[in-house]
Amino acid sequence: MIRDLGDGLVLRCATDDDAEPLAVFVGDVLRAQDSVEPNRALAAWERDLIGGRHPSFRPGDATVVADRRTGAIVSCLHLLSQTWTYGGVPIAVGQPELIGTVTERRGGGLVRAQFEVIHRWSAERGQRMLAITGIPWFYRQFGYELAIERGGGPRVFLDAVTPLRESPPGWRVRPAEDTDVAFLVELAAAATARHLVAVPRDAALWRYELTGKRADSGARREIRILERHGERVGYLAHAFDLWAAAWRSRPSRSWPACRGAKRGSARSATWWSRARRWRGRRRARAAPR
Ligand SMILES: CC(C)(COP(=O)(O)OP(=O)(O)OC[C@H]1O[C@@H](n2cnc3c(N)ncnc32)[C@H](O)[C@@H]1OP(=O)(O)O)[C@@H](O)C(=O)NCCC(=O)NCCS
Repeated sequence: MIRDLGDGLVLRCATDDDAEPLAVFVGDVLRAQDSVEPNRALAAWERDLIGGRHPSFRPGDATVVADRRTGAIVSCLHLLSQTWTYGGVPIAVGQPELIGTVTERRGGGLVRAQFEVIHRWSAERGQRMLAITGIPWFYRQFGYELAIERGGGPRVFLDAVTPLRESPPGWRVRPAEDTDVAFLVELAAAATARHLVAVPRDAALWRYELTGKRADSGARREIRILERHGERVGYLAHAFDLWAAAWRSRPSRSWPACRGAKRGSARSATWWSRARRWRGRRRARAAPR
């Protein structure tokens, strides 16, 4: 137990035993707007995370608030630990995710209490920054500021997709396989070198992208390899479902001209970041001695 919150509630780390209850909880609490159905995509993502499929996430990286009497989970928060790069320099980053409280316990400070815990964990792990997406402005009260746009890349609307009269000679698009992992690591590293902020993926993370995620996980992307005359020349990652009648994709190193694609029109969310120590340092330098 991390803390007794009173009113019959305890704040603790999640364990293996929480795997299924937590997946059901996340699917139930984090529903799509006004949906009568649980959110299957997020429940599947939770199962991947807590079930050990993710290369680094472990159950103890999540906090839960549970009802001491019934054992029922009433609130949860996850801390995903990642490495990003800024101008090529690796930075340890924490990403709070899959945050929710049951309706009848909202406004009781349960998420605030869990943020206090994961901010401590994040500092102990040497993370220089935390990055979060989610309800606009809500996370400002926990120290997060508007940071950078998230996603981007082309969005292709269905009515812009017309069948090709004939395939361009020599070109083929095929699903990526395990044997493509080394190619993906190398190509993605070259591609992300163009960006000031990037998330490098090693072989373990690429394997997780290719084969680690459940088919219905909201975090899964389809990865395709582009071949020209039998030689791999690029890759493409796209969502497996349609979103607002559009097909979202991530540009890779080789991005062929695509009719109907609007670059950058898929910026649907924003990263908010919390970099207390950096701000603290600036203030410390500016303060009179
Ligand atoms: C958003 C949510 C996670 C907040 O959980 P919670 O346990 O009620 O949060 P807390 O009680 O710890 O609230 C912390 C602070 O936020 C405030 N707050 C709570 N809900 C808020 C809302 N919807 N908008 C603005 N402020 C809110 C609280 O008043 C509190 O402020 P205070 O400490 O100054 O009193 C919860 O409403 C929820 O589960 N919503 C549905 C799922 C969801 O949207 N999850 C987040 C996805 S990004």
